Amino acid sequence: MSATSDSPRKKITTHTFRLKKQRGESITMLTAYDYPTALAVDRAGIDSILVGDSLGMVVLGYDNTLPVTMADMLHHCKAVARGSDCALLIGDMPFMSYQAEVNAAVRNAGRFLQEAGMDAVKLEGGRERVPAIKAIIGAGIPVLGHLGLTPQSVHQMGGFRAQGKTAAAAQKLIEDAHLLQDAGCFGIVLESVPARLAAYLSEQLEIPTIGIGAGVGCDGQVLVTHDLLGLFDRFIPKFVKKYADLHSTIARALTAYKEDVETKVFPAEEHTFSIPDEEWEEFVKSEE
Ligand code: KIV
Repeated sequence: MSATSDSPRKKITTHTFRLKKQRGESITMLTAYDYPTALAVDRAGIDSILVGDSLGMVVLGYDNTLPVTMADMLHHCKAVARGSDCALLIGDMPFMSYQAEVNAAVRNAGRFLQEAGMDAVKLEGGRERVPAIKAIIGAGIPVLGHLGLTPQSVHQMGGFRAQGKTAAAAQKLIEDAHLLQDAGCFGIVLESVPARLAAYLSEQLEIPTIGIGAGVGCDGQVLVTHDLLGLFDRFIPKFVKKYADLHSTIARALTAYKEDVETKVFPAEEHTFSIPDEEWEEFVKSEE
């Protein structure tokens, strides 16, 4: 519970997600990978923080999310957990932490909660993931599904491209979503799928859909915070709305610092410490 000036905010749970869907209230979710961002996102009253494996691209500088490890994820999840009070915290299971073997998937999912302070995990994929999802949920760990563009399958998909654009692909996505719901997922991220399809599916499902590039008909929205803030300018997906241009702001600040140091404008008087005159005189004498 976090006390604000007006009313105390309550911890968001997977139950809150379900209630918000029933009430027709949009669910808000953003990514965070470190303590200060988690503080800011939580204080903004965002319902949920996803520690996404997108950190591989926007923080660690990889071309895709495949090199991200469990160690990377746990390290960043711990920092986010320290900065967050009320948001539902979701740790993204990295590539090969859940695909190869169901028991390993359960053990790795457990580490997100036991070691890193997360409330739930997310993993990518449809029908082929049902055994792992059921086993993780069976261990008492809430699971958020992820369908559509699943970045860990970038090579199989032939690039970061929108999914569900043929009748057959749309049908498969609908079937997969129902299988994930039946397996016990508390929600499903829909990434880069046609808005009509996402809205149609959201109407059918009892669990909430969280869209990213899936239109306004989803039950909630998620964005990568670095994209929203304009911190990552290497590649900006079509579905991103940039609410700030922090990359340019940072570049301007760093150039100004460089100039100030080179011209001795910084540090100024107010940035320096003083020694009392009598102490200085005594020091000078001692040096003579
Ligand atoms: O890794 C991530 O940030 C994600 C979101 C894009 C949904 O999976």
